[in-house]
Amino acid sequence: MKVRQFIEDKIVDIKKTVGDESAISALSGGVDSSACTVLAHRAIGGGRLKVIFIDDGLMREGEPRQVQETFGKLGIKVDIVDAQAEFFRALAGKLDPEEKRKAFRQTFYTVFGREVLKSRARFLVQGTIAADIIETKGGVKTQHNILEQIGIDPEKGFGFKVVEPIKELFKPEVRRVAKELGLPESVYRRMPFPGPGLMARVLGEVTPERVAIVRKANVVVEQEIRKLAPFQAFAVLLNDMGTGVEEGRRKFGHIIIIRSVESRDAMKARPTPVPWDVLMKMSRRIVKAIPSVTRVAYELTPKPPATIEYI
Ligand code: XMP
Repeated sequence: MKVRQFIEDKIVDIKKTVGDESAISALSGGVDSSACTVLAHRAIGGGRLKVIFIDDGLMREGEPRQVQETFGKLGIKVDIVDAQAEFFRALAGKLDPEEKRKAFRQTFYTVFGREVLKSRARFLVQGTIAADIIETKGGVKTQHNILEQIGIDPEKGFGFKVVEPIKELFKPEVRRVAKELGLPESVYRRMPFPGPGLMARVLGEVTPERVAIVRKANVVVEQEIRKLAPFQAFAVLLNDMGTGVEEGRRKFGHIIIIRSVESRDAMKARPTPVPWDVLMKMSRRIVKAIPSVTRVAYELTPKPPATIEYI
C-alpha cells in the first residue's frame, strides 16, 4: 500500500461522499478512529466535522482527557459526551457476552444518533477495519461498530449514513497511515483497545464498581509490561471469587487474569513469554492496589482457540 496515495484518495472520497453536508466523527482515541478523524478533518475541515468522544464509563484511566488534549494539539476540537449512566443502565443485569455486546452497540448508536441529530450531521465517520468485518461476518463476535455488514441499515434505524474510510486496512497499515497523518507515537503505536472498552474485560455483570476494579488492574499491567512492547496486554476480572487469607482469616475475593499477546493483525495470537519477575511484580501490585482481589493468574491460551479479549 502506498500510504500517501491512500490518504489522498480517501480525502477525495470523503469529500465526494459527504458533499455539502456535515459529518460527525466517533473518536475513541485508538489508532483506527484517530486516523479516520484526521482524514475527515482534512477532507471537510473543522467547520463541517464535529468530533465527539463518547464517555461510556468503560475507558481506561484518564483516557477521555488525554484524547481531548492530543487532538487539541492537532487543532481538532473534541467534545466529550458523558453517557456513563446510560451505558451502565443498559448493561445492568446482563451476564451473557453477546447480550452485553448488543446492549453496548444499541446504546452506542442511540447516544450517537442523538448527537448526530443535534449536530444536524448526515454522516458518521467510523474507524471500522478489515478484521472487524471479517470476524463479525464469520460470527466470531458482535463488533459494536459493524452495522451494514450484518444487515442493519443505519439510515433507517438511526437516521445517518456511515463512512468507513479504512475498512479495507489491517492494523499495521492503519498505523502507517496514522503516522503519515502526523498523529503522535502514543496514538500510532497504541495497543488495540476494544470498542466496548473495559466491558470486554469484565466477565459477568458490568457495574461501575466492577469496571473500577479492572481499570485499576489495567493500569498496573500496562505500566509494568510496557518495556516488553507486546501487541496487546491487559487485565480481566472474572465472574467468580477465590478464597484468600488476610490477617489469619479466610476471605472471598476477586480473581484477576493478566493477558498479554503477540500478534500481527489480531486474527491469530500467542501469549507473550513474560519474564517471571515482571509477572510477580504485576501480581504484587494488583493485590496491593485492589484489596478485594485475592488471586491473580496469567493466561496461556493462544488465539485460536481462545480470543484475545474475554467476551
Ligand atoms: P478478539 O478478542 O476477538 O479481538 O480476539 C481481536 C482484536 O479486536 C479487539 N476487539 C474489538 N475491537 N470492537 C473493537 O473495535 C470490538 O467490539 C472488539 N472486540 C475485540 C481486541 O482488543 C483485539 O485486539
